[in-house]
Amino acid sequence: MTPLKAMNTRSVAESSAPLSHLYQRLLTLGDEPPIELSRVFLHQQLQEVEPAAQRLPTEFNQLMAWVEDHCAQVARQYADYLQARQQGGGRRYLSGRAHALYFLQAVAPTKRVDGAWLYGTLKHWQDYRYDGLITTYLEELGEGEVGLNHVALYRRLLAEEDCEGDLQLSDEHYRQGVIQLALGHAAESFMPEVLGYNLGYEQLPLHLLICAYELRELGIDPYYFTLHVTIDNVSSGHARKAVQAVTELAPIGLDADSYWQRVACGYQLNNLGLGTLEVIQSFDLEREVVAMLERKQRAGRYLHSDRCRFEGKTVNQWLEQTGCISSFLQALQDTGWIRRHENPQESRFWRLIEGRGAAMFGVFSGYEKQLLKDWISGRWQAPASPVRGGSVCRGATMEQQEDPETCALRQILKRYPPEQQIDVLLPWLSAPRHSRPAGLFAARHFMDLRARMR
Ligand SMILES: [Fe+2]
Ligand SMILES: [Fe+2]
Repeated sequence: MTPLKAMNTRSVAESSAPLSHLYQRLLTLGDEPPIELSRVFLHQQLQEVEPAAQRLPTEFNQLMAWVEDHCAQVARQYADYLQARQQGGGRRYLSGRAHALYFLQAVAPTKRVDGAWLYGTLKHWQDYRYDGLITTYLEELGEGEVGLNHVALYRRLLAEEDCEGDLQLSDEHYRQGVIQLALGHAAESFMPEVLGYNLGYEQLPLHLLICAYELRELGIDPYYFTLHVTIDNVSSGHARKAVQAVTELAPIGLDADSYWQRVACGYQLNNLGLGTLEVIQSFDLEREVVAMLERKQRAGRYLHSDRCRFEGKTVNQWLEQTGCISSFLQALQDTGWIRRHENPQESRFWRLIEGRGAAMFGVFSGYEKQLLKDWISGRWQAPASPVRGGSVCRGATMEQQEDPETCALRQILKRYPPEQQIDVLLPWLSAPRHSRPAGLFAARHFMDLRARMR
């Protein structure tokens, strides 16, 4: 690793930007991929890990047994969860649909770059020791099928649930996404850390199983999550390939100790930023309802008629004042416009938002409506909603004939012999591009070339 002092001062300054800005920056390829900035950022993150917090086994040959043991433990805990549910226990993580949709959006900065930490392994396609990691990465990309590309699947899930608004997430929500992008860009200097990070990320966590179960129960397509239960498995999937890569790429000779230490630090990078459970636990329905209405407040000022008054004030007057949303919601309850803990259809306010001819139709997104609906419903239990899912056309290939980027890429490829075409394709397999039609085409073409030239 290059010492931090020796690094480009511009990149050092840039790396102190808010994480949400760094996230966007690392998602912009431009003429020069942001390799130096990624290196500086990773150096800083590695200062924050605590290798003592969660130890890897001390010997390589214990690694597979250690991963299998973790997996067996998760399976047992999940069996206990299922038993508790069958005995009538409530959901453990997601209190309702609004909570679930909040969760999907709050983890989106990480999910939208799913797999990015492995991008830098593609360069090594001629070295058999990288085969497992490259296969893992190509599977994250859906092997060029839009219905299987993890990033495309997640984006479609958010769109289907109409929850792509700006939640104004904290910087910590972006930390894992930035780490993943940086590992992808700076893999040449941080390969042991990439391997360690991958080892941690590809192990099946209990929360993935429980989230999939509870999402399905809430009528939200769990496919993105169930897909990871099967694809990351330890008997033949990504978790096994992660262990094999750590072992295969270990240097023979004196560097073994420092290699192992760097793998362990990379593994610990998984613990920085907000974890899934912290995101789930941070949800507070009333706080989110108020925050959402405050975000809407500015746009809604002066747009309401002055016909109705609540505690002597018109809606426009309520919305003119900042910090008044809680009192306004109370006034709506006091005047009977909102009847909490009853079927929302009983509330005049809700009927303005949802239903045929609703006066405020289109004002609120799917997520925003769900927040209001769950808050109004409160202790009132709606009948179970039908399980949705399966609307995504799995395995479909996006029609690329007319896509200008794909046409341009095909033209460029014609100028090069097959062995040089791979270099042309690589930028199209990176996080900012691989879920676009040309990126999907690039993944399929890369796989063809790799199969032919091995
Ligand atoms: Fe994935
Ligand atoms: Fe995976």
